Parts: sequence; structure tokens; C-alpha cells
Amino acid sequence: MLRPGDDRLADYGRDESHCGRFPPDCAVLVESADEAALVLRLAAEHRVPVTPRGAGSGMTGGALPVRGGVVLSTERMGKIVDIDEDDLVCVTQPGVITGELQAAVEERGMCYPPDPASLAFCSIGGNVASNAGGPRAFKYGVTREYVLGLDVALMGGERLRCGRRTSKGVTGYDLVAGFVGSEGTFGVVTEIVLKLLPRPPAVAALLASYPDMTAAGAAVSALIKRGFRPRTLEIADRTSLEHVRARAPGTLPATAGAITLVELDGEDDGLEAALVRAGQICETAGATDVRVASTDSERRRLWQARRVISPSLREAHRIKVSEDICVPRGRILQMLERIQALSVRFDLLVATFGHAGDGNLHVNLLSDADPDDGRVKERIEQALEALFRDTLELGGTLSGEHGIGIAKRRFMPLEQSEALMEWQRTWKRMWDPEELLNPGKVLPPHPRGCHE
Ligand code: MLT
Ligand code: ZN
Repeated sequence: MLRPGDDRLADYGRDESHCGRFPPDCAVLVESADEAALVLRLAAEHRVPVTPRGAGSGMTGGALPVRGGVVLSTERMGKIVDIDEDDLVCVTQPGVITGELQAAVEERGMCYPPDPASLAFCSIGGNVASNAGGPRAFKYGVTREYVLGLDVALMGGERLRCGRRTSKGVTGYDLVAGFVGSEGTFGVVTEIVLKLLPRPPAVAALLASYPDMTAAGAAVSALIKRGFRPRTLEIADRTSLEHVRARAPGTLPATAGAITLVELDGEDDGLEAALVRAGQICETAGATDVRVASTDSERRRLWQARRVISPSLREAHRIKVSEDICVPRGRILQMLERIQALSVRFDLLVATFGHAGDGNLHVNLLSDADPDDGRVKERIEQALEALFRDTLELGGTLSGEHGIGIAKRRFMPLEQSEALMEWQRTWKRMWDPEELLNPGKVLPPHPRGCHE
């Protein structure tokens, strides 16, 4: 336990978002479900706020203790309990690093597909809390599709097991689906049963360069229309590519106007032919260069470069507000045009990259101005609201994978009706009537102020 006054508490008051620093009064690094439940019992008895925390890699401030109190960290619950080839199931504690879990199941010939870009340092418990996505979501879906069962410690100290270990199951209401993506506001996940898939025998990737994002977006739409099911269909613009140059020299073409990164998996037979067809579609859409990465090490280098886009942008700019809007797949080109127009209208440098195949774009508003300059803050706020309004007009949603946390809570009414949010407040009160568990997250206060 880190007690008041401990310098290390500062680390438990920040994450990967731009939301600021909120050091807690203390942090408890629990080692078991019983300890987690005990913290939640004592917190309820003494009416102290508790903020659950995984690895602190969240992008929306979801794990920041904005009301002080206790941070309940699951980082020490880092054991993979079971990997079962017969059942195609893995049972794990929440503190296991996602990339390590993937490597462990792959060693046994299986695969856990969800691959958030932060997989080298995010934890599986945090992925469950935020229903994390990632590039492979295009073919394989997001975390929720893989969570079969959960052990959860509830506010007040009760422990609940829900879900199952079987690949199918419709017994009772689907509480597991409700806990996944609830951003640590319903309970603290202490054990997770995950569905696994057989590891695909062959994987190959293709990197195509384009003069601009319009051509790259056209390639994404064309691949989808032609029925391609690559496991990833990523896009990145010129600004994103330029930033990667220093961290991963020579891997992504820094002078290209845009790229798409297409990765296919499946049986050895036919993969090469599919890759050639995909390359031709990219060329027809305007690709000026198409490169195939067929060895594991070539692919790994490409993905390392892709994964450092976000950290590189953060390193290079004093202000980086990173969004993860999602539009219907057929609207990607229109959304890219609107993002371009926003950059001009608000005179902000914008870097756009992400999971274009899913319509899920990371729009990063960048500036080197003083982050405390009120006029800059105001301009960014207006640009954000315009971005969300454009997204919603095209039938999209505020967040495709990072969640709401505190960063986007004020924008929720743009997308959801007051009635819908009130039903969600009712749901939250069922698990946490005193609003002590991860308070101040996801839902904005009731407009009449009675349920903050
Ligand atoms: C990514 O896809 O790189 C992550 O979601 C991080 C980000 O959006 O910045
Ligand atoms: Zn992403």
C-alpha cells in the first residue's frame, strides 16, 4: 500500500490521456480477489472513493482518481491461471500484460486476437474495462467478443462470478457484456475467462503508399467493397508518418502522403494470391508504391512503427488531443474530407491514423502553444465539438475504442438522449448506489444535478 505522502502516488494520478494529474490519497496494490473485495468493503463502509487501475495506459482519463481517495491497482495480479487447448480457453488475472498473454497462447498454437496498439504495456483487465479494440478488430472484433466469463469484486465487498467457460451460452441476462466496457464503474474484474482461436498458419502484410488520404481512403473502401477480409486495414496520413521517422527510421515511408497497412492471415495456400489482388486494388485506387512484408521480422518492424505513431506525436507536441471517432464503414471518405476541413477551419495541425477498415479514426489535434493558454484551449474545445458533430452527422459515434472516461463525458449529450443516459445512471446506481466506484466517469451529471 502506498500511503499519503509517498512520492510514488504521483504515478497513480496520471495516464496516457491529456486529462491532467490527480494523485490519489493512497494506492492499494492488491494481490488477490479477496484483497480487492476487502478494499471495496472498507471503502463502502467509510464512504471513500475508489478508482480501479490496470496499467494506466488509458487515453481518456478513465483510471484517474478525480475525487481523490484510493486507487485500487491490479498490477500485481499478473498470473495466467490456465491455458486450455481442448476448450480453446484462457483464464487470467487482470494484471497480465496483453502482449505477454498473446505470446503465451501463441506458443501453445492458439491466438487471442484483440491487439490494442499499447499491447506491450497495457493490461488485460484494463482492456476488459475499456472493451479495447485494435487493428485486428476488422476481422476478429474487439475484447467483448472474447470474454466468456468474469469474476468481479463489487462495491461493498461482494464477489460475483458471471458468464461461462463454454463457447456458447445464453443462460440468463448477459451481465458479462455489461461489465466489459463499463470503465471500472460497475465493479473490479479479478479473473477473466477468454475465448481463444487456433493460431492462423500464415500471415503476410502489404504496405501501400499514396499521394494523399483521399486515395488511401478510396483503397480502403474498394477493398471492403470487393469482399476482402484482411485482419487489419489501417491508414495513416502524412503528419503521422513524418513523426514516426525519428523513432522507427526507414520503416514507414515518411515522404508518402498516406499509407494503408493491410495484413492478411489464413492458410498458406492462396495467401500470396490474395495479397497480389489486394495490392492491385490499392494501385487502382491510386497507390504509387506497394511493398509486401512476407517474413515475420519485416511485419514486426512495420507494426512497431505503426504502434509508435501515437507516442511519437505526444513526444513532438506540447498539446496532443487524441480522439477515436468511428463512422460507418461506407462514410470513411466523407469523414476524412471533414477532418481536413476542420484542420483548416480551426488552424490546427491534425494527424489522422487508425483502423480505417472499421471506420475508426484516431484524429489527433496538435499544437505547440502553451497548454495553459485559454484561447488555444477554447479553439481545441470548439474543434473537438465540431469533430464530434461531423462524426454524428455521418451516423458515427464519439468513441470507437478508447471509451469516454472524463475526456469525453461532457460531449455525451451530443450523441445520447437524456432518457438513455438516465437509464444508464440507474444501471450504475444498482452496482454503486453511493457513486463511490470510479466516480465522475462516463456519464455526465444529471442536468438537474440530483445524481452527480
Ligand atoms: C492506436 O491505435 O495507436 C491507439 O489506439 C492509440 C491512439 O489512438 O493514440
Ligand atoms: Zn487504436
